Amino acid sequence: MNVTLAKTAGFCPGVKRAVDMAYHETGKEKVFTFGPIIHNEEVVSDLMKKGVMVAERIEDIPKDSGATVIIRSHGVSRSTYEALQATGARVVDATCPFVKKIHRIVEAQEAEGKHIIIVGNPKHPEVEAICGWCKNSPTIIENETDARNYTQNKEIETAIVSQTTFNYKNFKDIVEIISKKGYDINCVNTICNATEERQTEAQEIARKADAMIVIGGKSSSNTQKLYEISKKECRNTYYIQTLVDLDFSKLKDVDNVGITAGASTPNNIIEEVHKACQK
Ligand code: F3S
Repeated sequence: MNVTLAKTAGFCPGVKRAVDMAYHETGKEKVFTFGPIIHNEEVVSDLMKKGVMVAERIEDIPKDSGATVIIRSHGVSRSTYEALQATGARVVDATCPFVKKIHRIVEAQEAEGKHIIIVGNPKHPEVEAICGWCKNSPTIIENETDARNYTQNKEIETAIVSQTTFNYKNFKDIVEIISKKGYDINCVNTICNATEERQTEAQEIARKADAMIVIGGKSSSNTQKLYEISKKECRNTYYIQTLVDLDFSKLKDVDNVGITAGASTPNNIIEEVHKACQK
């Protein structure tokens, strides 16, 4: 069996940086991540064993007690950032630099008097955090229907940014709908290449594969997307969380297997599956 493992499988640079920063804080007292550092139970529980707890709310961080709080790669709003600082804890900001850049863009564009549109999922923590760096209330557009329904005073210029993991084609279509309405827009494509590269590579591998394995957490939306893309190219695509879920009987008569993994899948899980397929 030929096994092709995607080079882009697993952690993107921003997630890897945040996880490394969390591990760097192990061994110290009263260390918290603000929310789970990534959508991966294994990593979260391993960090817990090493003393890194998860604070779901600001109140979970003991005040003025020499605690450390790590902000995850999605980032937080300005008010949350300030509330974390107000606890007296040392704040370790592991916001992905690409996400941080969006915070700076919305601040600067608003300072120039523009209305902000964020293209993305309004319930995603990254989008919630971006909203929190806008002084005025931004518009969040998730799909083409939202774009068609969008109305704004045409005197006001608009700046459009996007959630880093948004699909590029959908973003382009949404921007086109808004621009056809005659608004004066400044569109900044803030989609991160890591997602696109991972999706393109998955598609290319799946196209040549007889079976495709996609590894990632059940609730990971980017893994779900990789599964959909792979499934379109390769009928025998399997979504697994760890090696335990892999049914080897399905790979019996297969010559070429492809493997990819979502952005929050740790390397050891990917390696385990890779090795097992090579046996
Ligand atoms: Fe950052 Fe891109 Fe990952 S924005 S968190 S490197 S998907």
